[in-house]
Formats: sequence, C-alpha cells, structure tokens
Amino acid sequence: MKIIDGKQTAAQIKAEIAEEVSRMVADGQRPPHLVAILVGHDGGSESYVANKVKACEVCGFRSSLLRYDDTITEEELLSEIDRLNRDPEVDGFIVQLPLPKHIDEQKVTEAIDFRKDVDGFHPINVGRLSIGLPGFRSATPAGIIELLDRYGIETKGKHAVVLGRSNIVGKPIASLLMQKAQPGDCTVTVCHSSTRNIKEICREADIIVAALGRPGFVTADMVKPGATVIDVGTTRVPDASRKSGFRLCGDVDFDNVAPLCEWITPVPGGVGPMTICSLMKNTLLARKGIF
Ligand code: GUN
Repeated sequence: MKIIDGKQTAAQIKAEIAEEVSRMVADGQRPPHLVAILVGHDGGSESYVANKVKACEVCGFRSSLLRYDDTITEEELLSEIDRLNRDPEVDGFIVQLPLPKHIDEQKVTEAIDFRKDVDGFHPINVGRLSIGLPGFRSATPAGIIELLDRYGIETKGKHAVVLGRSNIVGKPIASLLMQKAQPGDCTVTVCHSSTRNIKEICREADIIVAALGRPGFVTADMVKPGATVIDVGTTRVPDASRKSGFRLCGDVDFDNVAPLCEWITPVPGGVGPMTICSLMKNTLLARKGIF
C-alpha cells in the first residue's frame, strides 16, 4: 500500500506557481489577482476562504476578500459580481458557497463571467470540460487528476467507480476520467443514493473515487485488492479531544481499506490540499488567458 500525499504535492505545486509568478513580476508584469466573496459567517466557509487567501500569499498572488453580511440582497450581490466582471485588475473571482437561502446560487454562478470563473462552476466551463475543450475545471476533480498524473498511476482502460453525482465533484470527475487523455481513458460507473448493488459494483473497480460525504462508507469488503482509492470526503465529526472541537472524516474506512490498496489518499492530507492548488492554477491561467 502506498499513500498519495496531497499535502506534499500541493506544497510542491504552490512552489512551482510561486516561481512562475516571480518570473512574471521580474519581467514587469502584474501578479495574478484572485477575489473571494464571502457572505455571512459560516464556520466552514470562513476557514476555506482564509486558506484560499493564505495560498495566494504563498503563490505570490494578489488577493482581495470581500465580506458581506448575510443581509445582502441578491440584487446587491449580482451588482458586485457585475463590477468584478468588468474590473480589468481582477483575473478571477469566487463566491464562496453556500449562500443564504434568499439568494439563488445558480443565478449567482451564471452571473460570473466564465472567463473569470476560476471555480469552474459556470455552465460554459462545465460544458467545455465535458467536451474536452480548454476551460476552468472544478477544483477538486482537477486536483484528483493532478495527483493521478504526478504519481504516475495508470488509468487507461481501467474501471473507475465514482460514488456521488454532485455537480462539483462526482459529475466532473466522471467526465474527466472518461476522456481520451492521460490520466483518463477509463470506463466509468457513477453510483449514487439510488444505486442498488453498490458493493458489487465497487468490488469491480480498479479505481474508486468516494465523494458522497458519508464517513466510513467504503468498507474493506467493497474494495478489490490492488485498487486505487481516492477519498474526497471531508465530514466534520465532533471530537472533544481536538482544539477545533472536530476532526475531518473521509468516506473511506481507511484503517481497514488501506492494506488492500495499491494507492490510497488519506483524510486529511489527500485530496483536500489539492483543491486549493487547482484554484491557484486556474487563477494563474486566468491571468495568462486560456480562452
Ligand atoms: N463551497 C465548498 N466548496 C467550494 C468551492 O470549491 N468553491 C466555492 N465557491 N464554494 C465552495
């Protein structure tokens, strides 16, 4: 069993980005600029956004955090998005989700200019990804592909089973894994809450991507010996022994599954750190121009 170290890979990628940015700046160009919009005071969102701002510093990017109270109206938020769409000093921006109930998230996502949509959530970017055109890829799936690539994990002709069909992870990772590319070229099965024989399907998998948000869902009896298991789960489970009061729990029963695997990602320290890295890569691409 070998561990896929997302923390170390992410640090390496950020160092590579920082080097490229310092060359840009030395050449007299301005560094990439990422703007994050945070509405309200959700604990998870606060910490994700703080980590994104920190990653910008490490990469040598300019970052701006725009905070709004959860009383902001949809109209006000849309007008802020319009302003950022037109600001030539902003390369990319994100609106941290979830948003308060009175704001339509889909409307917000579609209001962002797809050329600045470094989250890769806009339907144009989703569609471009699905037909293999350049565009911004959703950060977590892009991070998984990067890990498979950097670890030289063979995917061609393999059976990949994706657990979960979310727009942010399940659907785009299924799309990327099935593309004629390396990593990619897999036969992909997507399982979800209505799938009947999920254990049997998982046992056929050469690669499992678990993105259900159900702690410990993937057990040893579901994994074929020699499989590669990618755990996207990050459920916060209360833990009084931790300073934060919680620990992150993956979708895989790591202790019992890991001995069976050829490769496995831990939680924390696997896919999680790669997600922010993909956002940084997208922001650098936005600065350089990809469309
Ligand atoms: N909420 C949880 N994950 C994400 C993400 O990747 N981007 C945004 N904007 N919101 C999120």
